[in-house]
Amino acid sequence: MELLHTVEGMQAHADAARAASQRLALVPTMGALHEGHLALVEAARQRADHVTVSIFVNPTQFAPGEDYAQYPRTLDSDLAALESAGGVDAVFAPTPEAMYPFGLPPFTTVHVRDLNRYLCGAFREGHFEGVTTVVTKLFLACRPHVAIFGEKDAQQLAILRRMTAELGFGIEVIGHPIVREADGLALSSRNRYLSAEERQQAVVVSKALAEVHEAVAGGERDPRALVDAMRHTVATAPLAELQYAEVVDTELLQPVETLTSGRYLAALAVFFGATRLIDNTTLDLEGSDY
Ligand code: PAF
Repeated sequence: MELLHTVEGMQAHADAARAASQRLALVPTMGALHEGHLALVEAARQRADHVTVSIFVNPTQFAPGEDYAQYPRTLDSDLAALESAGGVDAVFAPTPEAMYPFGLPPFTTVHVRDLNRYLCGAFREGHFEGVTTVVTKLFLACRPHVAIFGEKDAQQLAILRRMTAELGFGIEVIGHPIVREADGLALSSRNRYLSAEERQQAVVVSKALAEVHEAVAGGERDPRALVDAMRHTVATAPLAELQYAEVVDTELLQPVETLTSGRYLAALAVFFGATRLIDNTTLDLEGSDY
């Protein structure tokens, strides 16, 4: 595994792989790797000859007051986890100075309009602009043909798909299904912050989404009823504090009046103490799900 810390070094490495006619995949991460990330790496391996994992805790996607300083930075154990999962070709782990050489905040950013109005975007000022800006920079540094992102960050994925298509990067964006614990909790680097009691109660998040599926399968088509049911389920956990529960269309990520034959996203964000968990599920009324 080649460990690269500079944009120029990464570009030279990627150029050499491209010159050798390799297909390059990128798995962008902020480190603190868990099984969910390793599943993305495996998916990348199946789609490419050369896999780069980027590890960068991106300062521009943390809103003031969020956990940028506290976010886990565990490069050594991340590298060990990648090695024991069979290794990758390159790990791009730049410093903030390497990624933002002109200082912070950068003068140049990438903004995708409107898709950040609901869900996490309504609560995390500037977050998605930080994500789209850093992912653009990671694309330019790592020069992949394909990039893999987890579906847990469904709004991020939709925004990145739109950005990649509209800017014409020529990069295939792949979403990978959410990896879950046995009780349904979606894997997240932030799960490590949960106390034992919070961890136990955190099951309500995926439970609320499973109930949405059941309700829709039973014929429910009113998004407000689904949102109420999610609120109700989350409220059964005394340590849970709901930030949002929403049902939106999967393209523009806007609330809908009724469910017709499209695809929808049911999503929620729930605090357990200072730890914020997100989760979602797709309701595909076009397919044969319902
Ligand atoms: O999903 C993440 O871990 C981050 O938002 C990403 C895509 C690596 C950008 O910093």
